[in-house]
Amino acid sequence: MAALLKALFLFVFVFFSLSEAREILVGGKTNAWKIPSSPAQSLNQWAESSRFRVGDTLVWNYEEGKDSVLKVRKEDYEACNITNPQEKLEDGSAKVELHNPGPIYFISGVKGHCEQGLKLVVVVMTPRHRFIGISPAPSPAEIEAPAVAPSSGAASLKVGVLAVVVGILGAHMI
Ligand SMILES: *[C@@H]1O[C@H](CO)[C@@H](O)[C@H](O)[C@H]1NC(C)=O
Repeated sequence: MAALLKALFLFVFVFFSLSEAREILVGGKTNAWKIPSSPAQSLNQWAESSRFRVGDTLVWNYEEGKDSVLKVRKEDYEACNITNPQEKLEDGSAKVELHNPGPIYFISGVKGHCEQGLKLVVVVMTPRHRFIGISPAPSPAEIEAPAVAPSSGAASLKVGVLAVVVGILGAHMI
């Protein structure tokens, strides 16, 4: 019994430690990298309701050749200045791994698009604390996970495994 519990906790620990990093689809859906039809549709509105952590990867999806993504300094973000980007991503499925906490600034590389609202600032947080002892319940936001790329499936798998483990533990504790 004790050995079983130990094995389960070890399993949960390893599982959660390995599955922390996520791929986050920018805008939460395909073809979201486009001029917003209204401020409420802007990517920054989406970004404010999402959480980004060191180790996560942002994934863009847009029609290649129709747009591009520039990683820029704050001044260039604010001025929509496309002349001197830190990084230029022209691949329609560009990826950026988030290495450091703090804000990162992106604008469209197509002249005039940034001015019309195609820009994004993502505030990256430090990784979540490793859990101690009791396994953490995922927050409701993570269960629904609108920000997680559907292809990854990691979030739902995680919830599923948690449910199974909690079920087994519960059955043995009664
Ligand atoms: C854009 O950035 C470049 C290089 O940093 C600078 O020389 C230029 O003056 C800027 N343009 C505007 C309109 O701010």
